[in-house]
Amino acid sequence: MAETTSTLSGDAAIVTGASSGIGRETALALAREGVDVTLAARREERLDALADRIERETDATAIAVPTNVRDEDGVEALVETAVDRFGGLDILLNNAGVVVGGDIEELSTEKYRLMMETNADGMFFATRAALPHLRESGGTIVFIGSFAGQYARSYNPAYAATKWWARGFAQSVAAQTGGDIAVTTINPSEVRTEIAAETGRSFAERFDEDEAIEPEDVAEAVVFAAGQENAMVSELDLYRRDKFSVL
Ligand SMILES: NC(=O)c1ccc[n+]([C@@H]2O[C@H](COP(=O)([O-])OP(=O)(O)OC[C@H]3O[C@@H](n4cnc5c(N)ncnc54)[C@H](OP(=O)(O)O)[C@@H]3O)[C@@H](O)[C@H]2O)c1
Repeated sequence: MAETTSTLSGDAAIVTGASSGIGRETALALAREGVDVTLAARREERLDALADRIERETDATAIAVPTNVRDEDGVEALVETAVDRFGGLDILLNNAGVVVGGDIEELSTEKYRLMMETNADGMFFATRAALPHLRESGGTIVFIGSFAGQYARSYNPAYAATKWWARGFAQSVAAQTGGDIAVTTINPSEVRTEIAAETGRSFAERFDEDEAIEPEDVAEAVVFAAGQENAMVSELDLYRRDKFSVL
C-alpha cells in the first residue's frame, strides 16, 4: 500500500453522494490521502463495493452508511455513526444532488420538490448535524455548487436555483461560524458523471472528454480545499477551458 504523508492523514470525512461521480472519486482521493471515509448515498451495493476497494487500495478505513439525504433522521444517524466510528469529524462533503426535468412550464411539482429536498434540504440537514463536530475539530465543509449557481442560463432554472442556494448557504454558514471552521464551495461546469441520466443521456454520455471535466478533477479540488491548514478556500471555480466562449 502507498505510504501517506498528507496533512489530511488521520482525518475523518463524510461524503454524501458517494455511490457515483464526483462523490465516489472524492472518497477515493481522500482515502489516498489517508482520510477515513464514511460513504453515504442510497445505493448500498455500490457503497459496499467502494468501501471494499478503498480498504484494498489504501491505508484508510471506509464504512458504507446507506442514507437518503432527504430524510432528516437518516442524516442525523449518518453523522452519529461516522463520529462514533472515527472519534470525530474533520471534513463534510455536501455533494449529493440530482437534476430532473428542465423547462419550468413543464416541470412537475414532484420533480421540483425532489431537487429542492435533495440539493438544498439534504445539505442543510448534513450541515446542521455535522457543525458541532466540525467546530470541535476546526474542520472543513465543502459544498458542491455549480457554474449554474453563478450565472443565469436557460438550463433547468429550478436546478440552477438549488445551486445558488448552496452557494448562499455556504457563505452565510462561513459568516456565522466566524472562522471556527473552513467553508468551501466548488463550482464545476459540466462534469462527465451519471448526472441527468433521468433525461435518457447522462453527462458522461452527452459530453466527450474534451467537452467537459472529469469527476477526478473535482475530487482534486476538494482535497486541495480540505488540506488548507490556516487559510480557507472560499470558492473554487473549475470550468472546462473554453467555458466562457461556449456559453
Ligand atoms: N456533473 C455535473 O456536470 C455537475 C456540475 C456541477 C455540479 N454538479 C453537482 O455535483 C454533485 C454530484 O453530482 P455528480 O455529477 O457526481 O452526479 P451523479 O454521478 O449522478 O451522482 C449523484 C450522487 O448523489 C447521490 N444522491 C442522489 N439523491 C440522493 C439522496 N436522496 N440521498 C443520498 N444520496 C443521493 C447519488 O446516490 P444514490 O442514487 O445512490 O442515492 C449519487 O451518489 C451534485 O450536487 C451535482 O448537482 C454536477
